Amino acid sequence: MREKKEIRILAIESSCDETAAAVVRNGREVLSNVISSQIELHKLYGGVVPEIASRKHVEKINQVIQAALDEAHVSLQEIDAIGVTYGPGLVGALLVGVAEAKAIAYAKKLPLVGVHHIEGHISANYIEHSELEPPFLCLVVSGGHTHLVCVKEYGKYEILGKTRDDAAGEAFDKVARAIGLGYPGGPKIDRLAKKGNPQAISFPRAHVADAPLDFSFSGVKSSVLNHINACKMKQVAWDQADIAASFQKAVVDVLVEHSMQAVEKYKMDRFAIAGGVAANSGLREAMKAACAKKGVAFYYPSPIFCTDNAAMIGVAAYYEYMAGTRHGLDLNAVPNLKLGER
Ligand code: KG4
Ligand code: ZN
Repeated sequence: MREKKEIRILAIESSCDETAAAVVRNGREVLSNVISSQIELHKLYGGVVPEIASRKHVEKINQVIQAALDEAHVSLQEIDAIGVTYGPGLVGALLVGVAEAKAIAYAKKLPLVGVHHIEGHISANYIEHSELEPPFLCLVVSGGHTHLVCVKEYGKYEILGKTRDDAAGEAFDKVARAIGLGYPGGPKIDRLAKKGNPQAISFPRAHVADAPLDFSFSGVKSSVLNHINACKMKQVAWDQADIAASFQKAVVDVLVEHSMQAVEKYKMDRFAIAGGVAANSGLREAMKAACAKKGVAFYYPSPIFCTDNAAMIGVAAYYEYMAGTRHGLDLNAVPNLKLGER
């Protein structure tokens, strides 16, 4: 019998403020996962500065790719395809990864597979759950997106609900800035919330009329700002931990409620979470309990695979590659790429 060929994908991710490269074998096995974070740089400005992000990607990308190959103990000669995030994201940041991927694909005559960033986040769940296969539902919660997605098959997605305004991660970052925690806000609120009382302040849980699976987080964010202004006017100190705990609870409650509505409506017995906010301990616990109550299997990636990384892009690229997706050397960055678009 002929030995089954192994497929090794070199994946590149540069859509925001992480320069990342990874080598993934047969779609599920991460041989290396190298991430160069720019957080310290952007902290000074309270958020990601797009031009600084692009410049840093240019500076770091070759070293990060070399490190990913070294860590995986493979050379470029042993790579079967190049996977790269080509949208959505910051255009200047995406262009660095896309140009790099095209240069390697051209020089080494390798197939090029462009990947949707959100498809990458969803695919992060395949890394540590070998039994997970479509169909399943996935809540994608990141700095730029809040989507409830039905993963019908590998590479086939239906968006069941999404945010009408701020993404969940964006709300975490803005609230963190308002209460003086700085950037990046999500992990800081997560930590502080453990010390606060989630019932201390009643923040709103928004529902969108006629679209029960959609989200809206601008109201809860404004409500936190109003609470702070009221404290300032009354010249009383606000309790950072109570605000963090009450805000996080308000966001988590809505995310869990809508997710469980979707599970019921679409009669799914598998539910996954993905994206940076999926690293949130409050969300993970609440979702685990809600899924257990409904007898639904719950999947979540380790925190390192929740936030931006290239391993998840390698996994998504593998399934796209196996389905025959190939991009030409005219591949461009698409900052507002829609999920399911080619
Ligand atoms: O997926 P990601 O790394 O980048 C995007 O694709 O946007 O997500 C980053 C977002 C940020 O808004 C960050 O504050 C949030 O994920 N985040 C968290 C946590 N870790 C990261 N939010 C809440 N709790 C966390 N532990
Ligand atoms: Zn992301």
